[in-house]
Amino acid sequence: EDVEVQWNVPASRLSTFRVGGSVQCVVQPKTEASLKAVLQRLRGEGVPWTILGRGSNVLLPDGLWHRVVILLDRCCTQLRWKPWDHRSGTMTAGAGIRLAQLLKLSMRHGWTGLEFLAGIPASVGGAVMMNAGTRKGSIADVLQRVRILDKDLQEQMLPRTALPMGYRCGGLPQDAVVLEADFRVTEAMPHRVARKIARILRERRQNQPLRWPSAGCVFKNPGSQSAGALIDRAGFKGFRIGDAEVSPVHANWIVNRGQATRDDVLHVIEAVRQGVRERFGVDLELEVQV
Ligand code: FAD
Ligand code: EPU
Repeated sequence: EDVEVQWNVPASRLSTFRVGGSVQCVVQPKTEASLKAVLQRLRGEGVPWTILGRGSNVLLPDGLWHRVVILLDRCCTQLRWKPWDHRSGTMTAGAGIRLAQLLKLSMRHGWTGLEFLAGIPASVGGAVMMNAGTRKGSIADVLQRVRILDKDLQEQMLPRTALPMGYRCGGLPQDAVVLEADFRVTEAMPHRVARKIARILRERRQNQPLRWPSAGCVFKNPGSQSAGALIDRAGFKGFRIGDAEVSPVHANWIVNRGQATRDDVLHVIEAVRQGVRERFGVDLELEVQV
């Protein structure tokens, strides 16, 4: 009764790309204790499992995925605020909370520091795992500590300084499950926070292809170069296999124009990689988890 279970859940409901067949079993524990019990049981039985947040950085398999997907959107949903002094404090957010909810609260109360995350359709857990961010900053800049379950299902509190975070890399221990994270914020006038968020969202609507389902940028930027610019200059804008298309708006985004399959997307990825390698001698590394 502490766990909700669904069978044969369409992948399109679990990932923003809306690509993939179905997931055999989706489990939503309602408490941290039941999450732990589920993980213990799956481990004991040797059943493969994956935690998903909002599924905004994953390309799921076609057909039936024989795997248990665990969602934390029922058990890790607390959002708390603790002031240190009259100007700054810590926002503690459960892994299952959406970044958009964090920002909504920031706007309401006038807490600044997290605005750069506006428009990233992630959960707190997925954002920490990926060290999500933009050119203006990343989770690593605002994270204070993170509470996890380690591979032995023991709870640990890891300070930011203990994590080797890097570009799109949370630096968490192998098989860690993020439960909750603390973020540093400072007080500001609510209307200023709101204005900043609105500007960032406007810029995104101008530069990014938000009309079609996607997983954001497909490749990491190689060093100081821009993957999007390289793919663009190699002539791939609009390149399409099936319903998977290199966006004409931004070349580092593959968009799903309808019924794209995983293979369509993988073939586009391979073609782009090869094209950029031949033209510029650069090996693009995937950001999206395939
Ligand atoms: P998921 O995609 O569900 O999972 C990603 C990985 O994290 C998986 O390996 C999963 O197993 C793991 N994971 C998720 N939750 C947990 C947890 N609680 N504990 C342990 N592991 C976990 N990314 C950026 O960095 N910057 C951007 O500007 C950006 N813009 C985007 C815009 C759009 C429109 C889209 C669709 C994507 C964008 N992304 C961006 C990519 C994506 O949002 C980020 O990578 C994000 O961090 C993924 O979070 P998620 O909750 O969706 O994770
Ligand atoms: N560009 C082109 N052609 C294109 C796309 C981009 O010439 O088709 C050029 C732009 O003109 C610009 C440069 O490439 O001069 C960089 O482009 P942009 O400003 O869009 O930034 P990006 O490096 O492509 C990064 C992150 C995004 C994040 C934005 C905003 C990566 C891989 N991408 O994009 O993150 O939203 O900055 O700060 O680091 C994601 O990770 O999924 C993601 C969307």
